Amino acid sequence: MATHFKYIILGGGVAAGYAAKEFFNSGIKSGELAIISKESVAPYERPALSKAYLFPEGAPRLPGFHTCVGSGGERLVPEWYAENGIELILNTEIVKADLTRKTLESSVGRIFEFDILIIATGATFIKLTDFGVEGANAKGIYYLREIDDADTLFEGVRDKVGGKAVVVGGGYIGLELAASLIINKLDVTIVYPEPWCMPRLFTAEIADFYERYYQNKGIKIIKGTVAAGFESDASGHVNLVKLKDGRELSADIVVVGVGARPLINLFKGQVDEERGGIKVDSYFRTSVPAVYAVGDVATFPLPLYNDKRRVEHVDHARKSAIQAVQHIKASEEGESIAEYYYLPYFYSRSFDLSWQFYGDNVGDLVVFGQRDPLVPKAKFGAYWIKDGRVMGAFLESGTPEENKAIAKVAKLRPEVESREALAASGLDFATNV
Ligand code: FDA
Ligand code: NAD
Repeated sequence: MATHFKYIILGGGVAAGYAAKEFFNSGIKSGELAIISKESVAPYERPALSKAYLFPEGAPRLPGFHTCVGSGGERLVPEWYAENGIELILNTEIVKADLTRKTLESSVGRIFEFDILIIATGATFIKLTDFGVEGANAKGIYYLREIDDADTLFEGVRDKVGGKAVVVGGGYIGLELAASLIINKLDVTIVYPEPWCMPRLFTAEIADFYERYYQNKGIKIIKGTVAAGFESDASGHVNLVKLKDGRELSADIVVVGVGARPLINLFKGQVDEERGGIKVDSYFRTSVPAVYAVGDVATFPLPLYNDKRRVEHVDHARKSAIQAVQHIKASEEGESIAEYYYLPYFYSRSFDLSWQFYGDNVGDLVVFGQRDPLVPKAKFGAYWIKDGRVMGAFLESGTPEENKAIAKVAKLRPEVESREALAASGLDFATNV
C-alpha cells in the first residue's frame, strides 16, 4: 500500500534541511511533510566533510553540523523532525519516479504518493571508471560526497599515516582534501590536467598564490596530465598511479575529485532539462505542475546576468530550497513572492586560508594586495571587469565586513575609472562603495 504525504522532499542533503525548516517556519501540520533520503542521517551541512571532518584530532562529528548551523541557523537534530511531525525516511533509495501519477518507488518496493514534490537529489562524483581508466576499481581509491564516503576515507587515511597519497583533480575536493591529507602526515602529490588549480574560477595569478602556499606546506603538484591507470598489490590495494605523460607515482592511498554530475536520471523524459540540469523558473517550478527542483540539480534563471545557470554550491542550495517552499506556501494562500534574484557566492577553506568570491568571473582581472604566500596572513583580492564595470570580486583572508563589501560590489557592479586606479585602491574600492 502506498504512503501518502502532502509534501515530499526527495533527497536528504543541504537543500532538504533548509526546505524542512522553511516549511516549519511557514506552518505545516504533523504528518504532511516527509524527507526521503538514501543517507542514514538527517540533513547536514555537506561542506564540513571535506574540511575539519578528516582532521586527526578534534574533528567535528554529527550531530554537531546538522542543517541549518552552516548559515547560523538552528541545528535540526533528528528529534526536531520527530517533534514537529516531519517524517524522516532514511536509508531509502528511490529508484523510480512517476511524476504523472505522483508516485515514488523505493529499491525495496515501497510506494510513496505526493501532492507536491521537491526534487533535491543533488549530485554525485564522477568516477575514473566512467572514463574507463585502467585499474580504477582498486581498493584504496576514494571519492567523497556523502558522510559514509567521509567515514570510509577517514578510516583509509588512518590506516596509511606516514604513507603516500595521490590526489587526482585540482578543484574544490582536490585542494581541500590535499590539505587534510598532509595534516594527517601523509606525503601528498596532486595531479591535474590544467595549467593551474581551480580552473573553473581561478586565473593563473590567483592560482599561483595557492599553489605556492601548498608547495610550501610540502604538497607536490603535477600539472598538465591525468591519471591514466592504476596498479595494485596482491590484495587488490592500489600501489601505483600511472600518469598519461609516462610518469609513475607510488601510492598507498588515492583520493579523486574530478567533478560532479547532477542526479536527475529518475526524471529523464518527464521534466524539461536545460544545460545539464532540471529546467526551473524563478520559483524553482519544473515543467511538471506541483514538482519543484532545487539545489545542485536545478538550472535556474539568473536575472543579474540575464542568463540561466546550474550552481553546485551550498549557498544556492539553501536559498533555492527556501525560495521553493515560500512559493509553495504563498501559492496555497493565493499570494505571490518575489523572483529568485541570486548573486553567485562560492568559498573555500584549507589550512589557515579562507577565500570568498561573489558575482561572475568574466572579463579582465585586476589583482591587488599581498600575493606572497610566505608572508604571514597575506591578504589579496581581485576584481573581474567587463564593459567598464566590476562583475566579480574575490578576497583571500577577508574580515566579515570586507567580505560583505566585496559582495556588495559584485551585486551593484559599479563603473570603474581605470584598471590602474582600481588596482591602486584595491580593497578600499569595495569598502567605499
Ligand atoms: P546534496 O548532495 O546536499 O543532497 C542530496 C541528497 O539526495 C543526499 O542526501 C542524497 O543521498 C539524496 N539522494 C540522491 N538521490 C536519491 C535517491 N534516488 N533516493 C533517495 N535519496 C537520494 N559548497 C560550498 O559552497 N562550499 C563548500 O565548502 C562546499 N563543500 C563541499 C564539500 C563536499 C565534500 C561536497 C560533496 C560538496 C561541497 N559543496 C560546497 C557543495 C555543496 O555541498 C552542494 O552544492 C550542496 O550540498 C547541494 O545541496 P543539495 O541538497 O542539492 O544536494
Ligand atoms: P571540480 O569541478 O571543482 O574540480 C574537478 C577537477 O578535476 C578540475 O580541476 C578538473 O580539471 C580536474 N579533472 C577533470 N578530469 C580529470 C582527470 N581525468 N584527472 C585529473 N583531474 C581531472 O569538482 P570536485 O572538486 O570534484 O568537486 C565536486 C563537487 O563538490 C562540485 O560540485 C563542487 O562544487 C563541490 N565542492 C565544493 C566545495 C566548495 O565550494 N568549497 C568544496 C568541495 C566540493
